[in-house]
Amino acid sequence: MDKKTIVITGSSDGIGYAAAKKLKEKGHDVIIVGRHAKKTERVAAELGAPYHIADYSRLSDVVRLAGELNKYERIDVLCNNAGGVQKERRLTEDGFERTFQINVLAPYLLTRLLIDKLSACGATVIQTASIAANLFSDFDPEDLSSEKKYKSFTAYGNAKLENILFTRALCARYPELNPVAFEPGVVRSNFGSEGGAFVRFCYHSPLKFLFTVSPAKSARRLVYLAEGEAGVDFARGNTYSYKKPYKVKFKDEDGSAAQKLWDECEKRVSKYLKEL
Ligand SMILES: NC(=O)c1ccc[n+]([C@@H]2O[C@H](COP(=O)([O-])OP(=O)(O)OC[C@H]3O[C@@H](n4cnc5c(N)ncnc54)[C@H](OP(=O)(O)O)[C@@H]3O)[C@@H](O)[C@H]2O)c1
Repeated sequence: MDKKTIVITGSSDGIGYAAAKKLKEKGHDVIIVGRHAKKTERVAAELGAPYHIADYSRLSDVVRLAGELNKYERIDVLCNNAGGVQKERRLTEDGFERTFQINVLAPYLLTRLLIDKLSACGATVIQTASIAANLFSDFDPEDLSSEKKYKSFTAYGNAKLENILFTRALCARYPELNPVAFEPGVVRSNFGSEGGAFVRFCYHSPLKFLFTVSPAKSARRLVYLAEGEAGVDFARGNTYSYKKPYKVKFKDEDGSAAQKLWDECEKRVSKYLKEL
């Protein structure tokens, strides 16, 4: 297996951390990205890996992060994994609903700002999706910030479906890239810490052992795709659940929803893309 340079956002905890640890053990160069400085620094020191800090609720942080990551000689894998569910509808300082910005818009911007490097490396670009895309989504490209109505898990389900649509749009636009998404299972990570009482109870009480898997077990899915070869181990643009394609309920046969999402994201971050 060739050694790869692998950037994992949201690798200060949970699935991202477990995947970073495994990939590092396997000899890859892993770059840690987290939100909280001390926590991320601790993880990076433990793994002996470089690290970067960005809070995705600030797009200016994403622009700075992209500038830092663009200094690496190569990026073979970008894993857009940072994300989570939010209890209530709140706007970021950029004016977008938090679930949408953190899970969708910020990784969209990061990927766009890294596109030359990713293209030059024929990179794999992985999105961490969720079963929530099938269970709770009510996708409305005219209401990405949930202005018309807001329910915590609908917003989250929409964001995770949008991760899948983004994967497909990226695939259509950049034939040199290998975009892919995965569904990580139900994982007893720090997930839900910013969610409502029910999700916090499910994920952070002893009940969690009844229906969740460990981050290390889930991370096998990310590790498989990060090390994998497009066309051999996975098909470009697809969504996976450990080695097997994951059936996405939302149909977008002509790709128009993916295209619309792309255009709507582009509009919202256009001021940061002008110099490209
Ligand atoms: N756990 C599950 O059952 C499950 C199921 C399906 C999908 N997922 C998805 O899996 C991904 C990883 O989640 P996880 O389960 O590993 O949860 P986690 O343990 O809470 O880890 C989330 C990671 O994302 C980072 N993050 C959260 N908010 C951020 C922000 N505003 N800006 C930058 N980074 C931020 C966190 O940084 P800090 O540690 O510094 O806060 C952490 O590194 C997420 O996209 C989640 O939606 C999880």
